[in-house]
Amino acid sequence: MAETDQAPPPSDQLAALNLTDTVEKHAFSDRVLIRSIVGRPDGGAGLAGQRVRAGGWVKTGREQGKGTFAFLELNDGSSPANLQVIVDAGLAVLSKLVATGTCVMVDGILKVPPEGTRQKIELRVEKVVSLGEVDPAKYPIPKTKLTLEFLRDHLHLRARTNTIAAIARIRNALAFATHSFFQEHNFLYVHTPILTTSDCEGAGEMFQVTTLISESEKLEKELIKNPPPSEVDIEAARQVVSERGEAVKQLKAAKASKSEITASVAELNKAKENLSKLEERSKLKPGIPKKDGKIDYTQDFFARQAFLTVSGQLQVETYACAVSNVYTFGPTFRAEHSHTSRHLAEFWMVEPEIAFADLQDDMNCAEAYVKYMCNWLLDKCLDDMQFMAKSYDKGCIDRLRMVASIPFVRISYTEAVELLEEAVKGGKKFENEVKWGIDLASEHERYLTEVKFQKPVIVYNYPKGIKAFYMRLNDDLKTVAAMDVLVPKVGELIGGSQREERYEVIRERILEVGLPLEPYEWYLDLRRYGTVKHCGFGLGFERMILFATGIENIRDVIPFPRYPGRADL
Ligand code: 4AD
Ligand code: MG
Repeated sequence: MAETDQAPPPSDQLAALNLTDTVEKHAFSDRVLIRSIVGRPDGGAGLAGQRVRAGGWVKTGREQGKGTFAFLELNDGSSPANLQVIVDAGLAVLSKLVATGTCVMVDGILKVPPEGTRQKIELRVEKVVSLGEVDPAKYPIPKTKLTLEFLRDHLHLRARTNTIAAIARIRNALAFATHSFFQEHNFLYVHTPILTTSDCEGAGEMFQVTTLISESEKLEKELIKNPPPSEVDIEAARQVVSERGEAVKQLKAAKASKSEITASVAELNKAKENLSKLEERSKLKPGIPKKDGKIDYTQDFFARQAFLTVSGQLQVETYACAVSNVYTFGPTFRAEHSHTSRHLAEFWMVEPEIAFADLQDDMNCAEAYVKYMCNWLLDKCLDDMQFMAKSYDKGCIDRLRMVASIPFVRISYTEAVELLEEAVKGGKKFENEVKWGIDLASEHERYLTEVKFQKPVIVYNYPKGIKAFYMRLNDDLKTVAAMDVLVPKVGELIGGSQREERYEVIRERILEVGLPLEPYEWYLDLRRYGTVKHCGFGLGFERMILFATGIENIRDVIPFPRYPGRADL
């Protein structure tokens, strides 16, 4: 594999490598990656003298030496670092190159810059191969410091900024780490459906998927263009049928020729066809089809109500109960009207499901997975993490190191409530009242992980009344074998549980929470036939990125955020 295919190992490892003094072209594009030059521990100095072609977008550019040459800081997204490029006036109209956002591809020779400059290498251009110009007066994201909020109004261009590009690389690394972790532990990646007819969390926060509305709109338009037949039209068509019938009768009575009768019967059939078409059209009604006063979903695309999934858990359980260790990793959708910095209407979730495993195993897996991701970023993304530390959150690298190295605190829900009550007695004010039975609010979760313990905390055994029906009932009959992983900066990162594997108990739980049994019969079959102790959890992928980077708003760590009122692009 070409050296340029891979992100380089961390600098300490690289230092031990014997660096070659050639840089290879990218395997599938006609240039070298900027990372393969400036991402080396020698900053690229060892490549001096080499001829390369590089391409990228100008971060900053300035004409120098009274317009005799220009400096460009070029970035192609392969690394947070730019390549410094020098172009002489004879090679291009310099004023067209220097605007931020301009795309250039250039051929040149790598040279060590004069002493005293920050760069270890620069590219002396011999030829400008291609140019994508920018009108600086119109470019929506100029060089000035732009807020993340402003950039949300320019989703299609924001990946050109250092911050969003760094987040994209960190997000990519965490996805790779996720597959790597589960594959190393022999989990199968299972694709669960996006369109579903089951509500996993039973929380009624699902987006409905239907073609009834678009079909009814289409019909309405069609009926305006082509109005349905009136009663008079139908009566007239009926009249034609009866006249044609009469004509056939008379021809038969008059013993007319066979060909005359056949022709007349054909006319009659045509008239009947026309009548039935008109009658059919007259039945078309604008609006959503209804039956017994309710929407008639039998006429919908799937002949029943369907939704976007809120979680792949229930479906992935079917594979866990057959091939034992599985995970799903995909988009999930929740129509919550929360305008918080921690909620999206579309977010990605990683959901492992493990057979022959209980709540302890579940917590062990969650902790190992989070630690693995922290180590992965320290190992593979240190340059982007350093950028985050410099620009957004001083402590983010230390936090990764801390989480990767110390055991997570584990406390029961009951203990957690006692600690919160103690805090209240000690003068701590929460907006939400603390007492046994409440769903912990974000402020409570963050108090526990950020103030009380200052490290990740796993809270387990929650009251059954605040948790989903599928969680295993504990022997106290009051709590379920649920666990949430709380981390600093974010609060709840992971929600999981041991699943109720006892047929009678889960059947009761479904009824107890007021859900109908029929849609869950397939889920009950997993308990009816060859039931197994099993557990799993869901990690909110964007929350993991918030936690890692210290970015404040979840809308900035997903490429195309969807939240109430906004779904751009
Ligand atoms: O705790 P939740 O609702 O758990 C489930 O959906 C289970 N079925 C998972 C399982 O056991 N397989 O969601 C899991 C995680 C939360 O801890 C949170 O990190 C994230 O998903 N999450 C959200 N992230 C962004 N925006 C939202 N609206 C989120 N809702 C949940
Ligand atoms: Mg939860």
